[in-house]
Amino acid sequence: MTISIRTQVGILGAGPAGLQLAHLLQRAGIDSVVIDGRSREDIEGTVKAGILEAPAVEVLVDTDVVTRDYVETMRHDGIEFHFDGHAHRFDFPALTGKGVYLYPQHEVLKDQIKARVAAGVTPLFEHLADKVVDGSNGPMIVGKNAQGEAFEISADFVIGADGSMSIAREYVTGNKFSGMAREYPFGWYGILVEAPPSSEELIYSRSEEGFVLISTRDEHIQRMYFQCDPNMDVNAVTDEQIWDKLQAGVSTHELKRGPIFRKDVLKFRSYVHDSLRKNKVFLMGDAAHTVPPTGAKGLNLAFSDVLWLNRALREYYRSGSEQFLDSYQEDALKRIWKATNYSYMMTTMLHIAPDATDFDKKRQVADLYSHTESLAGQTYIAEGYVGWDYSADDWR
Ligand code: PHB
Repeated sequence: MTISIRTQVGILGAGPAGLQLAHLLQRAGIDSVVIDGRSREDIEGTVKAGILEAPAVEVLVDTDVVTRDYVETMRHDGIEFHFDGHAHRFDFPALTGKGVYLYPQHEVLKDQIKARVAAGVTPLFEHLADKVVDGSNGPMIVGKNAQGEAFEISADFVIGADGSMSIAREYVTGNKFSGMAREYPFGWYGILVEAPPSSEELIYSRSEEGFVLISTRDEHIQRMYFQCDPNMDVNAVTDEQIWDKLQAGVSTHELKRGPIFRKDVLKFRSYVHDSLRKNKVFLMGDAAHTVPPTGAKGLNLAFSDVLWLNRALREYYRSGSEQFLDSYQEDALKRIWKATNYSYMMTTMLHIAPDATDFDKKRQVADLYSHTESLAGQTYIAEGYVGWDYSADDWR
C-alpha cells in the first residue's frame, strides 16, 4: 500500500532553506510538506556553524523563529586579516552599518523545526525521497519511509532544497551532476577544541605556510582550520603538529590549547547550476549551488533563494500570476554569481596554491594590501561579508 499525501508545495530537504521556506509560506496561508531522509535527532545533532548575515537574521527575527536578544549575543562586529606580518581589522559597523552573527547552524535548524512543530506541521523525517516524477495533478515526490512503506506526495509545486546530492536536480536537468564547477587544489583541516577563545574576533590568516582560520563556537569550544591537501588523511598529523600549523598563522596571539575532540578534512568546491527550474519543480540552496567556506556565504545564499521563491509562490497563490515564478531563475542567479565570485575571491586571495610561483605570491600580498589600505577596498570586503540586502524583501 502506498501512502498518498496532497499539498500545495512539496519541499525536499529539512535544511535551513527548506524549513524557512515552509515557515514563510505558512505565514501566507500556503500549505507545504517538508520531507527529509534523515531523522530529527540526526539533523539537530550534526554540529555545523554558519555566519548569518544581518539580512538573514532580520528574516529570522521578523518571522519569530528567534528572538532579537538571543541573536545579539552572537554578533560579531569585525574580522581580522593577518598577512605579511600585518594584522588588519575590518570594522563592519563603521564600514557598512551592520554586523554578522556566528550562529551554530544546528541551532538555526532546531529553532526552525520548533517553529514547524508549533505550527502543527512537523516535517516528515526519515522519509527518503527516491525521485520526482510527473503526476496526473502536478509533480510528485515518491520514496519510502523508515518502515519501508512507499509514499507519494503530490503537489502544485516541488522545491528541491535537498542539498548537493539533490534528487530534484535529476528531474530539472536530467543529470545529477551537470553544472559549472571549480575544484580547488586545497582544503581545510578543521578541529574542535575544548579551550577558551584565543581571539575575540575571527582571524583569517595568509602566510607562506598557507591559510589559517581561528573561529569559535562558544566560551568553551573553539573551531580552527589550517589549509591542507584535500586528500590528506585526518590521522596524518599529531596534535602537536596541528597546533604548530595553526600558530604559524597568528603571530599576534598565543593560541589557547586544549583537548582536540574532533578533526576533519573539508574539500572545497564552487558549483553553480544555471538551470533552476523545469515545469513546476524548482531548485534552491546547495541543490543549486555550492561555495567554498572562506566567504561564509553558503547559508545566506540559500536564504536569498528562499525569499525569491517565497515571493513567487505567494504571488501565484494570491493572484494566479506566474510572473515571479518565471523570473526566479534569473533573479536568483544574479546573487548566486555574486556570492560565487566573492567566495572565490576570498578563497584565492587567502590560500596558497601548491603550484603558486613567487609572482603569484607577491601579487596576492599586493591584493591584500589593496583591500586593507584603502577605504574602498575595505568596504568591498565588508559589504560582501555582512551581506548585500535581499531584493525580494516581502517576507513579512
Ligand atoms: C566556522 O566557524 O566554522 C567558520 C567561520 C567562518 C568561515 C568558515 C567557517 O568563513
